[in-house]
Amino acid sequence: MSDLSGRTTIVVGAGRGLGRGVASALAEAGAPVVAVSRTVTDFPEPANGSGAIRTETADAGDPSAVADLIDRHQPTGIVVVAGASLYMRPLQQHTWESFSAHWHSDVRISFHWVREVLLTPLRPGSRVVVFGSGAALAGSPLSGGYAGAKATQRFITAYAQQEAERAGLDIAFTVVMPRMTPSTAFGRSAVRAYAARSGVPEEEFVRKMGPVLTPEGAGAAVVELLTVDASSLAPGYLLTGAGLRRAD
Ligand SMILES: NC(=O)c1ccc[n+]([C@@H]2O[C@H](COP(=O)([O-])OP(=O)(O)OC[C@H]3O[C@@H](n4cnc5c(N)ncnc54)[C@H](OP(=O)(O)O)[C@@H]3O)[C@@H](O)[C@H]2O)c1
Repeated sequence: MSDLSGRTTIVVGAGRGLGRGVASALAEAGAPVVAVSRTVTDFPEPANGSGAIRTETADAGDPSAVADLIDRHQPTGIVVVAGASLYMRPLQQHTWESFSAHWHSDVRISFHWVREVLLTPLRPGSRVVVFGSGAALAGSPLSGGYAGAKATQRFITAYAQQEAERAGLDIAFTVVMPRMTPSTAFGRSAVRAYAARSGVPEEEFVRKMGPVLTPEGAGAAVVELLTVDASSLAPGYLLTGAGLRRAD
């Protein structure tokens, strides 16, 4: 398990942001990577020339695309990072559509991938990492239904682990809950909104947050989760600029 060469890993939502960092880190660790996003993206050759990144343009919330990608690539690792952009405003300024947007993207995407992993099923020893959010624990009052949707992704991941165990599939499911970070456009919109609400300049708000999570840091964390011994894998982790912390 410590060697990722020959272990094809699909990164769902790899075009930019944290998912891009995850795809690059996995390739550098030697994994053949399939990078999925709706927009065509290029990746440079991994710096050390190890793993390769193939790109696939698909809507990760389309169940037939999910089944097709799993069927064609036969992965033993899947990392579900994709989610909708944030729409930051107070509760009363949301519409039902903006409030529920993350249910129709993040929750839908993780539901279809996790379901297909169980139905296929992936080979014994496979691992699935789902990106939720620290907002699932702390709430996120300016992003409508986001925190609830991310909490549901955590539940879906735990339910999938139970079903895998009941069926004796030997597949491990883990949720990773990143803390808000200004290092992606997605996170920057949240930082901007919460800094404004707190009445402090953005730079000061970021400084008070402590070490900043980067796409490279997210990549290193996922490499760790895909290579660590299965017996020490937790059901969930918080992810900050300081790294992974178990959230059992
Ligand atoms: N950044 C943060 O501060 C933060 C904090 C906590 C949790 N998170 C979570 O971490 C994840 C990644 O965040 P991020 O900041 O990296 O977001 P991001 O920069 O917006 O990247 C999202 C990626 O997902 C892809 N994507 C979105 N919908 C898709 C779909 N239906 N099918 C295929 N690909 C899709 C996007 O590409 P296309 O648009 O081209 O498809 C993009 O590559 C999200 O789930 C987010 O909720 C982020």
